[in-house]
Amino acid sequence: MCGIVGFTSRNRPAIGPLVNGLRRLEYRGYDSAGVALESADGIKVYKQTGKVAELDSLLSRALPEGERGKYTLGIAHTRWATHGLPTVANAHPHIADEGRLALVHNGIIENYAALRAGLEKRGAKFLSQTDTEVVAHLVAAFDKGDFLTAVAEALKRVEGTYGIAAISARHPGEMVVARKGSPLVIGVGEDDIVVASDVSAIVAYTRQVIYLKDGDIARITPKGVDIHTLDNSPVTREVQEVDWDIGAIEKGGYEHFMLKEIFEQPDALANTIRGRLDPAGGTAFLSGLSLSPRELAAVRRVVIVGCGTSLHAGMVGKYLFEKLADIPTAPEQAAEFRYSNPIVGPDDWVMALSQSGETADTLAAVRESIRKGALVSGLCNVVGSTIAREAGRGVYLHAGPEISVASTKAFTAQVTALLMTALKLGRTRRLSFEDGDRLVKEISRLPELVGKVLEGNDAIAKVAEKYAKADDMFFIGRGMLHPVALEGALKIKEVAYVHAEGYQAAELKHGPIALLSEKTPVVALLADIPGKEKTLGNVQECRARLAPVVGVVTEGDEAAAAAVTDALVIPKTCAELSPIVTVVVLQLFAYHVARLRGCEIDQPRNLAKSVTVE
Ligand code: F6R
Repeated sequence: MCGIVGFTSRNRPAIGPLVNGLRRLEYRGYDSAGVALESADGIKVYKQTGKVAELDSLLSRALPEGERGKYTLGIAHTRWATHGLPTVANAHPHIADEGRLALVHNGIIENYAALRAGLEKRGAKFLSQTDTEVVAHLVAAFDKGDFLTAVAEALKRVEGTYGIAAISARHPGEMVVARKGSPLVIGVGEDDIVVASDVSAIVAYTRQVIYLKDGDIARITPKGVDIHTLDNSPVTREVQEVDWDIGAIEKGGYEHFMLKEIFEQPDALANTIRGRLDPAGGTAFLSGLSLSPRELAAVRRVVIVGCGTSLHAGMVGKYLFEKLADIPTAPEQAAEFRYSNPIVGPDDWVMALSQSGETADTLAAVRESIRKGALVSGLCNVVGSTIAREAGRGVYLHAGPEISVASTKAFTAQVTALLMTALKLGRTRRLSFEDGDRLVKEISRLPELVGKVLEGNDAIAKVAEKYAKADDMFFIGRGMLHPVALEGALKIKEVAYVHAEGYQAAELKHGPIALLSEKTPVVALLADIPGKEKTLGNVQECRARLAPVVGVVTEGDEAAAAAVTDALVIPKTCAELSPIVTVVVLQLFAYHVARLRGCEIDQPRNLAKSVTVE
């Protein structure tokens, strides 16, 4: 969703780093962009609908190279519309105090209508339909000489969520930033300080970062960072080192981040697994959980919360926990969970799955579960993210930054981490050493197995060509392949804009089969798991209605290959790993269909990478 960048330097112009920062945040999804720059002459604001490239050319026209040196402080923003259309007027930064103050904001101000009415009565002139603009006017109204205090006073009146950055011509050289519910990270360089919604916009300048916590407000000048609470008590936040560099967020020769991230999976999974398998005990080490075998043995039920792709990974988790650890497991869509007055307590382990670690509904589910006394853990990719921190314990995926909006390597890493967790839980219960040992061996082979799937990329691209014009598709699977069918359908919907539905293979004949014809390809997941023979029966039912069937089949399974119209092959593995090898085929299939349809693969329309609103 929206992205914030702020930059201040002792000696460097801010424009380049601000625009580059916005480019790094493009993956989050947005529809307009803007910049505010401060100099001795006051504040200048430039805004544009559409892409950051268009803002960049606006800046090139407006500010010749020779003039840029005088702007060493600025804030910038990419907006994903919530309140008001994506227009120039609604784009951030918003201004107040007759153009002396500029402010950018991520999140939602829930009481903005009441605040706006009050401010208008006192003469404030609003130029946009946004909720953000009220914050700019509020800050101006509270400015009695100290900028940080003015922002803090304004934020005390605000209900909702925010990450904000503000500058004011009344306080030259200062930027004030604050967060509650929307992430903000401060990169501390030698001569420069960069603020951004996430570290991808910072690592080009420094790897030393401070993750602000909810309720923090900071005054930033080229000399340093001064962090307080909204009540003005100073606080200290640790400076941490980011453990990846700029190469990790560049395309590295791939046409799209999505393809790069699909191909990164062998390495990503090797990182997820590294140091976490215990061959001697036939189990896994997951030190971030900080749970003793006795505590693990006391868990009576697992609840997995997440959204989208993370929810699908959680649904695979249900099969893994029930199969390996005999623990009843309920995957729950996080928004539904949080508003359902959920029945969870001290015997339940609530696992929050989130690549970004910032998804608003998943975070709310974490908070509700903590309130109810459940054992809570996070399964996140982004280190230092809000869910990871608030859950207090968990497993990091270590899959590396995921830039493509469509999540790929995070899914396989999540399922892998869930599998290791199920293995660990199982070994505190009835899972034997022999079974544990078998799984440890198979999990160690995972990077190699996924590498083999990737070797089939050209074959998958060929099959994609056959079906790229279809308007509707079905994906079917049984057991732990059912969530993979849902994930395959989600991928093709979001990146290729093909209407697709995922179903339990047996459910097709209870209604959806009415839609089958020669124009509706069915993708059938036929890896070797219990129930495969039954799915083969469902394949026959589809073909009898003339629907072409693309089968994802295990190498050497001639019967399955013969039953389908087109076979895409996966290597032989155990049932527990079949969701991972299968989904990689579906990711590539969706990618190629999207490419052939000319879609904007890395930033699909209307989507945002990190969904920080409800
Ligand atoms: C799909 C996708 C989304 C996310 C969902 C949750 O490709 O990316 O469905 O999976 O928005 O995001 P995280 O995992 O960051 O909580």
